[in-house]
Amino acid sequence: MGRTFSSFAIAFTERLCYYINKYYRTEFARVRPEQEGERIEHCIFVYYLSILMPSHKDFFMKRLIDKLAATQTLEKEELLYLLSDYDDNSSEYLFARARDVAKQHFGDQIYLRGLIELSNYCKCDCLYCGIRRSNKNAERYRLTPEEVLDCCEIGHKLGFRTFVLQGGEDRHFSDDIIVSMVESIKSAYPDSAITLSLGEKSKASYQRYFNAGADRYLLRHETADPIHYARLHPKSQSLQNRMKCLYDLKSIGYQVGTGFMVGSPYQTLENLVSDLLFIQEFQPHMVGVGPFLPHHDTPFGHHVKGSMELTLLMIAILRLMIPNLLIPSTTALGTIHCTGREQGILAGANVIMPNLSPTNVRKKYLLYDNKISTGQEAAEGVIDLRNRMQTLGYRIPVSRGDYRPVHQHGNTRHLSPSLYPPIERSTSHVQSSI
Ligand code: 5AD
Repeated sequence: MGRTFSSFAIAFTERLCYYINKYYRTEFARVRPEQEGERIEHCIFVYYLSILMPSHKDFFMKRLIDKLAATQTLEKEELLYLLSDYDDNSSEYLFARARDVAKQHFGDQIYLRGLIELSNYCKCDCLYCGIRRSNKNAERYRLTPEEVLDCCEIGHKLGFRTFVLQGGEDRHFSDDIIVSMVESIKSAYPDSAITLSLGEKSKASYQRYFNAGADRYLLRHETADPIHYARLHPKSQSLQNRMKCLYDLKSIGYQVGTGFMVGSPYQTLENLVSDLLFIQEFQPHMVGVGPFLPHHDTPFGHHVKGSMELTLLMIAILRLMIPNLLIPSTTALGTIHCTGREQGILAGANVIMPNLSPTNVRKKYLLYDNKISTGQEAAEGVIDLRNRMQTLGYRIPVSRGDYRPVHQHGNTRHLSPSLYPPIERSTSHVQSSI
């Protein structure tokens, strides 16, 4: 009797909330810009409603997630609601939908990339980064081209078909040196892809690396909000130039990766929404997201670390926004929690980047404290990694794991009714800064 009554009450509440939503949607649609205040009141009303009626909150969250999956987009307020009000139920639902989408596009495959950390010399002074120029305690190193080729040889034997050359912005590595390194890797391993992650360069330099055979380039935008960017970087570094680099790379024909940290100092949820909207607009081929982790020798050494849960949520949202996106389950996720990498895969990530650098330098490429570089994180641990992935129902193919375009990517933004009225996307700082 009690059960029948409670299931009736839940069904009744959901029905009621459904009609309230419907009513408010119609109302929202009628709201004109000058009634902005009223719209905010409506949002607050729905927000309180969702607190008062937990089952409604569930219902509302799931509807948002379904809408994101169906249309690959959400309005700014909707994203903000998702990020601020998620709970175990809604995130489980989101992860399950993201996993399904990843499975539709990549089957049971998780792509491998071998990370070779070229140099920890850096002319930049990013306030969060352990290899920043001002960190006099960092023990600096750079690999020789021969050492890099040795890493590729080991990696190729282990089944790696992508080599990621990542490093600080080290003036020692002139364009000539980089070009010759790319050419020699390409001629030794023509079946493998080369990804570069060497920071901001001129378009002419990017073009030279591309002509030499580089296939992909990773350059995280770090934050799409110029004010936040300025709090994380010295004056000499600008979001404007970073964005220019990203657009240059794309126009040259690279598969381009960008990304950001979750929980970096001073970051707000609105900042994260800007990151998502920038990514939606830019349509990169890859996005790396990891929690911010403090490094004791940086000005942010005493800031709190980012949240793993929120990082996983961002991965899942990105999967639904761009279904064929290459999303690594990052080292930072593996560092913040011993099963972080697995959890990243279960939230929709489909790439893992074990460390192929020579073992004697791994501890020196310390972007943040306790960065993992052994065990399944290390290239030598690839068998363990394969087993762990198998336990989760995935396998690691011997493959370059290239980005594959899908053709149904029209603008589907208006196919489904919005829960909020469409808002004018401000001629964002991102666009205006290009
Ligand atoms: N915590 C987490 N990620 C970091 N990175 C740099 N420093 C940190 C840190 N303290 C990330 C940046 C950079 C990438 C190579 O590593 O996003 O782009």
